[in-house]
Amino acid sequence: MKSLFEKIEETAAFINSRITNKPVAGIVLGSGLGGLTDIIEGATVIPYSEIPNFPVSTVKGHGGELVFGKIGTTDVVLMSGRFHYYEGYSMEMVTFPIRVMKAIGVDTLVVSNAAGGMNKSFVIGDLMIINDHINLFPEHPLRGANDERLGTRFPDMSQPYDISLIDKATGIAAELGVDVKTGVYVGLQGPTFETPAEYRWLHVIGGDAVGMSTVPEVIVARHGGMRVFAMSVITDIGISDVPVTITHEEVLEAANAAAPKMAAIVAALVKTF
Ligand code: HPA
Repeated sequence: MKSLFEKIEETAAFINSRITNKPVAGIVLGSGLGGLTDIIEGATVIPYSEIPNFPVSTVKGHGGELVFGKIGTTDVVLMSGRFHYYEGYSMEMVTFPIRVMKAIGVDTLVVSNAAGGMNKSFVIGDLMIINDHINLFPEHPLRGANDERLGTRFPDMSQPYDISLIDKATGIAAELGVDVKTGVYVGLQGPTFETPAEYRWLHVIGGDAVGMSTVPEVIVARHGGMRVFAMSVITDIGISDVPVTITHEEVLEAANAAAPKMAAIVAALVKTF
């Protein structure tokens, strides 16, 4: 059986044989946040189904793809369609694309997601720059034997989200006239949304927003020594005096509506790389 390292090398070699650019930034798009794909110039698209060792998407009608091209003068690779733990993928599968990005030369990871808000000052449609996270996934993506070629056994997590990128993005948002919040993202496995007591608890432990992704990818990116920038769209508010129902459709609708604002900030940020 191939080791993780061998699979990464094989997949990276395949991708390198198909692309002409050398991406320095990797972008992971969250639910309903597809807008960025359109601004990539000179795109080369590789469906996940053609990529050796890549997971196959469980979402009907959208198999997912890697999009390679430029934003401004910066070479990027964009993941359109991500793998969630709740879909049944192992942590190795959820984070495999991040490993491959690193192997083809990506040194900065930009992640987006849709998230529920717990901070009382947040409203639906807000953007939140993630400045820290709390990992409540039931399994750690680095569990198991550590391959030193991929990173150290006990990675430091004192600054998971790069402070200079947070500062730069905050400045860009101000220039664009887009209001952004900053806060702590809590990652849970889902797929249920939280109960009222869970939202209250997650706020008490220090969370401002909660979602079902991002944390595994960020941990693996940090393991590999990548810089990370991440942003949430607040698609629903969990803290309320009366029970508020949440549906996936509402989450997608709110994410879609906020996507252009997020795309503008991410694009301007990536252009500075
Ligand atoms: N909880 C968890 N995941 C989410 C939410 C939420 O409220 N909104 C969007 N993704």
